[in-house]
Amino acid sequence: MFDYQGKVVAITGGASGIGKQMAMELADRGAKYFALADMRAPELKTTTEELRAKGVEVISAAFDVTDDDDFEYFAKLVFNKFGCCDFFFNNAGVSPNHVMWEMPLKDWQWVFDVNVFGVVRGINAFVPKMIASDKECYIFNTSSLAGLATFWGGGAYISSKHAVVGLTEVLELDLRHFNTKVKAYAICPGFVTSNLYRSDTYRPEGEDWMPVGPAYQTDAYQEIVARSSASAVLNMPTDEAVRNILEEFEADKFILLTHQAVGTRCLERYDRFFNKKLRPFYEQPKSMDQELAKKKA
Ligand SMILES: NC(=O)c1ccc[n+]([C@@H]2O[C@H](COP(=O)([O-])OP(=O)(O)OC[C@H]3O[C@@H](n4cnc5c(N)ncnc54)[C@H](O)[C@@H]3O)[C@@H](O)[C@H]2O)c1
Repeated sequence: MFDYQGKVVAITGGASGIGKQMAMELADRGAKYFALADMRAPELKTTTEELRAKGVEVISAAFDVTDDDDFEYFAKLVFNKFGCCDFFFNNAGVSPNHVMWEMPLKDWQWVFDVNVFGVVRGINAFVPKMIASDKECYIFNTSSLAGLATFWGGGAYISSKHAVVGLTEVLELDLRHFNTKVKAYAICPGFVTSNLYRSDTYRPEGEDWMPVGPAYQTDAYQEIVARSSASAVLNMPTDEAVRNILEEFEADKFILLTHQAVGTRCLERYDRFFNKKLRPFYEQPKSMDQELAKKKA
């Protein structure tokens, strides 16, 4: 098993869900110094207190990963306080869904600013400092099953998460090319219990950003909202998901899955395109169909 004793861990989107559980699990495994960031200050405060109760040292920073200066400040805070960062989790993300041609452009921009440029900001703020510390350390960019496979109605989220897999692969190539001691990983969770379904409430503040208006009243949008809520039946418990991610990390895989079956689905996807020469296809899990039928009844 990897020796986590005394390690320094920084996590964006650390107030809830997978980020929070990762902090808790790493504290249980011996990591000692934590820096949590999240845009939701009250939830961040609660998580910080829960983590401290495990006897570890925790600093926290409430900021939005769409802000360049705040991200730089966060990285400086971590290195000034702890002297290094062994594990950096670029984890904050949002997941509003919409049928492709109805999704307002501002929603695309918001999703990409958080899910893609948020990750790029994290790389720019942390990686130079991690390289300069000249010790083995690890950066984890959180993508998704949606970074490897597709489903209808998830255009912005799926394209943002595909971008994260691609950019993380290139990050790893760059880190190897320049012979650094930093290693990059792409975390690709399947459905996991978290607050991700509440993403719409993490929008930038202001009326312009509210999901109101005709674009959010269409039948297609209502169908997508119903499906998102029904997908909860597929959720893996957060603690199990985090243990699986760490197991994959310890096995030195590059793409870290929560659900092993995802790998097979990805191979099938490319087999479909290249060998079978078929068009894209999505089959909704039966348990989701049953859940949707229950909700309608
Ligand atoms: N839960 C799943 O099923 C699942 C599946 C695949 C990928 N993921 C990815 O896992 C990551 C963690 O999500 P989660 O499922 O734990 O959801 P979550 O909503 O519980 O946690 C995400 C955290 O990110 C924070 N956040 C959102 N936008 C932010 C911003 N602009 N600036 C700072 N913080 C921000 C939120 O406040 C929240 O605390 C995300 O990148 C998500 O896309 C989750």
